[in-house]
Amino acid sequence: MNIYENYETVEVTTDLLILGGGMAACGAAFEAAYWAKKNNLKVTLVDKASMDRSGAVAMGLSAINMYVGLKEGKNTLKDYVDYVKNDLMGIVRDDLVANIGRHVDSSVHLFEKWGLPIWKDENEKYINEGRWQIMIHGESYKTIVAEAAKNALKEMEDNGEYYERVFITDPIMEGDRCVGAVGFSVRENKFYVFKAKSVLVAMGGAVHIFRPKSVGEGLGRSWYPPFNSGASAYFTIKAGAEMTCQEVRFVPIRFKDAYGPVGAWFLLFQARATNALGEEYMKTRAGELENWLPYGKNKPIPTSLRNHLMLLDEAEGKGPIYMRTDEAIKNFVAEIEDKKQAARKLKELEKEAWEDFLDMTISQALLWASTDTMPEEKASEISPCEPYFISSHSGASGAWMSGPEDMAPDDYKWGYDNMTTVKGMFAAGDASGASSHKFSSGSFTEGRIAGKSAIRFCVENPEMPEISPEKIEEMKKTTFMPLEIFETHKHYSNDPDVNPNFIKPKMFMFRLQKIMDEYAGGVSKSFKTSESLLQKGMEYLKFLHEDSDKLAAQDLNELMRCWENRQRIWQAESHIRTVMFREETRWPGYLFRTDFPEMKEDWKCFANCKYNPETGEWEMMKREIIELT
Ligand code: ADX
Repeated sequence: MNIYENYETVEVTTDLLILGGGMAACGAAFEAAYWAKKNNLKVTLVDKASMDRSGAVAMGLSAINMYVGLKEGKNTLKDYVDYVKNDLMGIVRDDLVANIGRHVDSSVHLFEKWGLPIWKDENEKYINEGRWQIMIHGESYKTIVAEAAKNALKEMEDNGEYYERVFITDPIMEGDRCVGAVGFSVRENKFYVFKAKSVLVAMGGAVHIFRPKSVGEGLGRSWYPPFNSGASAYFTIKAGAEMTCQEVRFVPIRFKDAYGPVGAWFLLFQARATNALGEEYMKTRAGELENWLPYGKNKPIPTSLRNHLMLLDEAEGKGPIYMRTDEAIKNFVAEIEDKKQAARKLKELEKEAWEDFLDMTISQALLWASTDTMPEEKASEISPCEPYFISSHSGASGAWMSGPEDMAPDDYKWGYDNMTTVKGMFAAGDASGASSHKFSSGSFTEGRIAGKSAIRFCVENPEMPEISPEKIEEMKKTTFMPLEIFETHKHYSNDPDVNPNFIKPKMFMFRLQKIMDEYAGGVSKSFKTSESLLQKGMEYLKFLHEDSDKLAAQDLNELMRCWENRQRIWQAESHIRTVMFREETRWPGYLFRTDFPEMKEDWKCFANCKYNPETGEWEMMKREIIELT
């Protein structure tokens, strides 16, 4: 049987190929369209889902977490860089953060122009949630941004196009250059070959690598979008790109079980988090911060340290931990003497509290409703989630990028802004590492920076690369192999989940999550691990990796699930390798090395890794931190 022959091969030739459809990809399309038009070049975007509701902003947001306010004179660029650096315990690329920071405000102004409602005060000024965060009515945030990106491509007529519901699998390489990508439609019998002069990777971070807290009927629920399965990491690693911060997972504290956001409660409502005894761990455990200097003494206290203090309380059995929503609301109202005014304020606060969830995490509002929780009356549990790979929030994993020409030190630049170490391959958003806290607006902005730069690459490298047809045929066979395996062996057993000849993607994912949880410091181990656990985990991971050749798919949707798990395992392997490499504990509330329980000066550097596609070997390396002055 040669199932792959039933799939039509569709060849698309373009100049810039944008992979992904989230905020970074939309920013890239919007900006690249402008520069491509000037140079008569073509831009093609490919999304595995539908751009209107794809990526991390799919469900909407209640705040834009990165607005610097440069023109308003609210903050300087250095203020922002210092903030991000402190949050990541010193491990950050100043040049990348500053490059996004100097352009991000203009992106937010564009969102407003396109129709995004931003909260304003009586003087028409944005209302801040915290120093860097502004409040929005953002249920339709992604739809608004996607519409602008699609319009920018449509205005290019024949030179602009986007493909939806096409799942990208592997990079096409010619020598040391990335010259395209292959993928398959999840709706039609089609295999896509995209040939391009430059490729921009913006396929998000990764979730469901670690066993989630939501199991059984809650399985699939996660804070970060469940459809982000490590496509960017897989694609860039397989292309041979140097990666950075692959050890930096993000463990967000969220409202328990439905993963509701905490930012508005901590920053806007000024709520306290306490343990079951009513103690505020940020105060009672403040002494512990002395062990993590200089970062522990700076404000705001880094996210991983805030987590760490909470975890110490949990370890002593002082949970549940509560967000004191009741107290916060009462505090606001108590200040108002007039009764009618106080009642009005109470209603307003209730409305804002519910909207915070309805804008971005609807299931948390449902959970409140189903547990008779009125936030003004009853506190809600908060707890740490399973680890995620997301460099746009308080994580950092991604590709090692060429920095901005006018800012980056020589060691950090090799020609084009936001190009990876692979020629012609660019990255943005969760795909680009060591530039945390870019969130939605910063990811869009980084997409713009990378999009412009990738067009410049096309202008300066105008020859269309040749691609070997034999190689493409091989890639096609590999792409559809899981369908072939299923068809060949499906009659061997009466339950497709139990068959010695193959493994279904869901079972594969469970195995991966078990390994990562128990050996790489997941939820069940309170985010703790050690060399011996990691070694054992790696041993099991190798067996699982071998089994990925036996993944089986019953239909196109399941074929996508097979590929998502192929992607996950590469993210997982690069994580374990880098966690093992960094012999210290630097972000204690995300990951604690019990064999190296302290932060060390000689590890104040980047831990990078690189996979060699020719030899199959991994190389680990330290890279110096060069600060901007
Ligand atoms: S969101 O992505 O779900 O909206 P989150 O709720 O973590 O994010 O926080 C929103 C913003 O507030 C982020 O910029 C985060 O870093 C910041 N933040 C959240 N809690 C705190 C806190 N206790 N102190 C300082 N900053 C915080």
